[in-house]
Amino acid sequence: MLSDCLGLSPEGHLTIGGCDTPELAVRYGTPLYVVDETLLRKNCADYVRSIADYFDGNGQVLFACKALCCKEVLRVAADEGVAFDCCSSGEIYTAIAAGVAAEKIFFHGNNKTKDEISYAVAVGVGCFMIDNLQELQNINEEAKKQEKTVKAILRIKPGIDAHTHEFIKTGQIDSKFGFALETGEAMAATEAALQWEHIALCGVHCHIGSQIFDAAPFVLAAERLMDFMIEARERFGVSMTMLDLGGGYGIRYTEDDHHLPYTQYLEGVAQAVKAKARQHDFAVPSILIEPGRSIPGAAGITLYEVGTVKHIPHIRDYVIVDGGMVDNPRYIMYGAKYTVVCANKAGEPATETVTVAGRCCESGDLIQEHTKLQPVSGGDILAVLSTGAYNYSMSSNYNRMPRPPMVMTKNGAARVIVRGETIEELCRNDI
Ligand SMILES: Cc1ncc(COP(=O)(O)O)c(C=O)c1O
Repeated sequence: MLSDCLGLSPEGHLTIGGCDTPELAVRYGTPLYVVDETLLRKNCADYVRSIADYFDGNGQVLFACKALCCKEVLRVAADEGVAFDCCSSGEIYTAIAAGVAAEKIFFHGNNKTKDEISYAVAVGVGCFMIDNLQELQNINEEAKKQEKTVKAILRIKPGIDAHTHEFIKTGQIDSKFGFALETGEAMAATEAALQWEHIALCGVHCHIGSQIFDAAPFVLAAERLMDFMIEARERFGVSMTMLDLGGGYGIRYTEDDHHLPYTQYLEGVAQAVKAKARQHDFAVPSILIEPGRSIPGAAGITLYEVGTVKHIPHIRDYVIVDGGMVDNPRYIMYGAKYTVVCANKAGEPATETVTVAGRCCESGDLIQEHTKLQPVSGGDILAVLSTGAYNYSMSSNYNRMPRPPMVMTKNGAARVIVRGETIEELCRNDI
């Protein structure tokens, strides 16, 4: 099976977290997001353990909660010892509402509004991740107004091209995020940060891409940022103590994807960081990582009911489901690959080649093209696998479709963690 939380029942039904998926579809309706608590916890625990094993616990795992942000998921992650990368006051608010301590929140974003900065300073987030000079000034002004000093980490583009999709690559110069290393912009930003009285500069950050299956780019990024911190100490006498390597750890969307175990990505990074530290008499920094997708991604699936199958001779067969780009916009956005299974025939061979389409008024509203599937007809239940990340969090109300509910499974039991929207709620802000 593609993910540890999935299985096959004696009747040949797909299971998740020990629950029969066609039964979940009947009980909660479709479309339905399902996320398994056991795998969610294991993924968090693996990252926490890797910081313990390779850095003696000197570091933190920040769940990039843009991947899946709702209170119960954040509670589960917090319970596993994870802190949070939040990118908006909405994400910060959700974390606080879930009971997360404000100092465990690291505030990201490339254009934090003045209102958001004011809110984040007031609640006392643990750290601001600085994207640009204007923001540095705005944060300093707000901290001064509130008579506080805030911790800050500079976001740097280390110029590393991790193997990933063009649209989700963020490590190089041509990116809207952060300060470039090669041009001297990052060093100039360091000098600028040191001049603001209400900013305590603690470290540097980079995020080199997504769906990375190999540790080598992280090792290279760690080396570059260590060199940067060492040079900044020489130039300005500043001792930065935090090195944040961002997220980007890959997950399995199809059988062709193979990632390292999440306990292993930091092994080479630890060797490289410790070697640089020894060589330059620099204290080993506290290591932060920001896994997003890889915490809930493979722990989640989406269930749909097939409405109809449209056979277009010599062209293709469309299997049309009761959701689509509204609950999963990743195919229309960047052709994301997924594995699709007929949940009530999961034990049968996938003999057909079909295109799975949604029900929105948009030709591009597809979940997957030319994918293998068991023979299906109206009433069958489809499961799209590995949809735990960037599906619910990127969902929309296009065509005024309400967002589906989300249930969490654990050892054969399921509970609703996000109610489905009602059509009345869609009009709640209309005047
Ligand atoms: C700064 C930062 N950290 C972490 C992440 C999470 O990345 P992933 O979901 O690939 O682990 C992202 C994703 O966009 C990001 O921009």
